[in-house]
Amino acid sequence: MLNPENTYEWFIKAFHPKSGLDLNFYKQNQMQRRILSFMNSHKYPTFPDFMKALNEDSVLFDSFFKHLTINVSQFFRDTTQWTTLRETILPKLLQGKTSLKLWSAGCSSGQEPYSLAITLMEYFSHTHFSILATDIDVNVLKQAKDGVYKQNDFASTPPELLQKYFTLTDKGYQIKDSVKRQVSFKQQNLLTDRFESGFDFLACRNVVIYFTEEAKEMLYQKFTQSLNKDGILFTGSTEHLFGMNNLGLKPVSSFFYQKQE
Ligand SMILES: C[S@@+](CC[C@H](N)C(=O)[O-])C[C@H]1O[C@@H](n2cnc3c(N)ncnc32)[C@H](O)[C@@H]1O
Repeated sequence: MLNPENTYEWFIKAFHPKSGLDLNFYKQNQMQRRILSFMNSHKYPTFPDFMKALNEDSVLFDSFFKHLTINVSQFFRDTTQWTTLRETILPKLLQGKTSLKLWSAGCSSGQEPYSLAITLMEYFSHTHFSILATDIDVNVLKQAKDGVYKQNDFASTPPELLQKYFTLTDKGYQIKDSVKRQVSFKQQNLLTDRFESGFDFLACRNVVIYFTEEAKEMLYQKFTQSLNKDGILFTGSTEHLFGMNNLGLKPVSSFFYQKQE
């Protein structure tokens, strides 16, 4: 006889209170596939067996959470967009301004907010700025605060910046304190938690890929409210805001949008 508990719907209901993650906001096809592939490789035949193991084994839970939230990142990921940011977007944003408030939403282990900090320190050295960096996953935030990285995190990083802003130690490349000081890390679920406001710049890249269309639209609306007038939203290379004309955001370059009113 079929076990009525062995369904995706049962699993996401049971997983929500344990994880704080409501998978109803994520596309079912992709998420179900990821969950089943993890269950198969760890030899759990049913959702209830798997949920029981998640409740009992915190190492398994952490590894599954990491598998679900996919936290791959890199310094200066998508080089062309970082060049546009440096040459076009930031100079315009800084016209008549001497300070900036920035937010990296879904920051993973810190590569994105630290890339923003390095860009400002290197090319806009008279600008005062602070960066809020948030993620749902406490484990990646811990890595971000430690600030130690491996060689392959720097595939898109100009060597002179690696040399200037990191120190090579026996653990890996340690980010310098002068960069660390510019970024504050905080745990936050973008789908359910309250947002701060007053941002001049907001990067949310490669985070919404698995969100449903409704969840994405709700998120972009909340992001728009968090931005100052003329503030910039920086999205990932596969993320377009096509069809979301009611947001009050105007495209100013590929993957950069500016708040109108
Ligand atoms: C692929 S990484 C992107 C990192 C960085 N933004 C980049 O583009 O390199 C996606 C991050 O989004 C985070 N994330 C996924 N769902 C989230 C949610 N609901 N709230 C906050 N962060 C979330 C994951 O934990 C993960 O660290």
